[in-house]
Amino acid sequence: MSEHPTRPEGAGQRLGKVRPAPEGFLSQDDIAAVKAGRRDFLRGSFSAAVAAMGAGAAGFSGLARAAEEGDSAILTLPPWSTSLGQGVAARPYGLPSQYEKGLIRRESPGLTRVSGSSVAFTPLQGLFGIITPSGLHFERHHQGWQDIDPSRHRLMINGSDPSMVKRPKVYTMDDILRMPPVSRIHFIECGANTGMEWGNVAVPTVQYSHGMLSCSEFTGVPLRWILEDCGADLKKGKYILAEGADGSSMTRTIPMELVLSDEVLVAYGQNGEMLRPENGYPLRLVVPGVQGVSWVKWLRRIEVGDQPYASKDEAVHYIDLMPNGQHRQYTSTQEAKSVITSPSGGQMLLDKGFYNVTGLAWSGRGKVKKVDVSFDGGINWKEARLEGPVHSKALSRFNIGWVWDGKPAILQSRVTDETGYVQPSYGQLRAVRGTKSIYHNNAIQSWKVAESGEVSNVQVL
Ligand code: MTE
Repeated sequence: MSEHPTRPEGAGQRLGKVRPAPEGFLSQDDIAAVKAGRRDFLRGSFSAAVAAMGAGAAGFSGLARAAEEGDSAILTLPPWSTSLGQGVAARPYGLPSQYEKGLIRRESPGLTRVSGSSVAFTPLQGLFGIITPSGLHFERHHQGWQDIDPSRHRLMINGSDPSMVKRPKVYTMDDILRMPPVSRIHFIECGANTGMEWGNVAVPTVQYSHGMLSCSEFTGVPLRWILEDCGADLKKGKYILAEGADGSSMTRTIPMELVLSDEVLVAYGQNGEMLRPENGYPLRLVVPGVQGVSWVKWLRRIEVGDQPYASKDEAVHYIDLMPNGQHRQYTSTQEAKSVITSPSGGQMLLDKGFYNVTGLAWSGRGKVKKVDVSFDGGINWKEARLEGPVHSKALSRFNIGWVWDGKPAILQSRVTDETGYVQPSYGQLRAVRGTKSIYHNNAIQSWKVAESGEVSNVQVL
């Protein structure tokens, strides 16, 4: 991790100002433009919004004028200073401020035909630190989500033949909650994250390009303990099959060596509370470093066996189409990846000056070692500051100061993980993987800042 400088680079410079991503004011026409594959739709909506704000609001000159005239926000007492506030427990389960209602999960317009088998993306552009608020955790369901009655939920452990598990058992939620728990912070990324970008730029914002990504503190019981409780043969049993209780009967093979590392959890807690129904309440598998599909939600059964199961979700889905036309199966580890979340596509720099460039980095193989950032499309690189804590197989936050001189720029981030693996460019990734895949795109993301300040998604080879 790089040392924290006492003053961030660029301190003392005039401060720049970001207009946040525009999804909050995407009109039906804009959505239709995305569906039709047009990528110039942002320009229109931005110009309209800037015009609506009036010229004075767009920069610091406006603020200076307000100060000269006397700022009514200081001179006149607002209602919140002159009236009685709401009582405690007015909202027994807290909600974000009404002014934050633009920060929401979103479905990508036109991506899937039905929302029961779809994705809602996390708004990475508006989040801080490394933890994803549970209400903004991305969602990926194959057949919708259910709010399961925990008193009727069961976890069954069995073997593919009687020798694999000596004492097959069925656990209630109460049984599982009485076991000694562990809590760990991990990222989950869908293998299809950034999957629309294999051939060319396809989506405008980081929410849609990288938002199948979240990070939480999970609480549960290491699966190994439960298997030992059932007398599973952890040498003969080389794999487990995890099965969900939803209509899609999601089933995934997990190698036993991951279970033996004690990293795989049968989890019920997420960020200090029970899992949200969308994320598998009351029980899900947590498989750190492995693509999201293996984190089986609404977990109801684990089978111990001696070979991979080749279930539908690993034989024909979640496979990589290689340039020679062959399919690659069981490529489950999420390789190191990073992305600048602000400034990012759809945002606008309203002024020259200092910007804090921030983003996320992660690796399915361990800890993030360093993140380099380029402001000129990959010609020069500078090491960013990693904000602690840096956990293994968790999101890490990076920040770096940048003074924008008003000229076009291309912002990129490139992570190196603790194994020494360096995130590839699009050119490097395509040389091995081609352009026809869906899954496991971890290429370097580029955001172009135009002279107008508009930030857009571009690809640099
Ligand atoms: N488990 C079940 N039972 N059913 C599902 O549809 N979707 C999988 C996985 N587990 C799924 C599931 C996929 S493809 C992903 S990426 C993750 O759950 C998404 O988890 P999340 O919805 O909590 O973000």
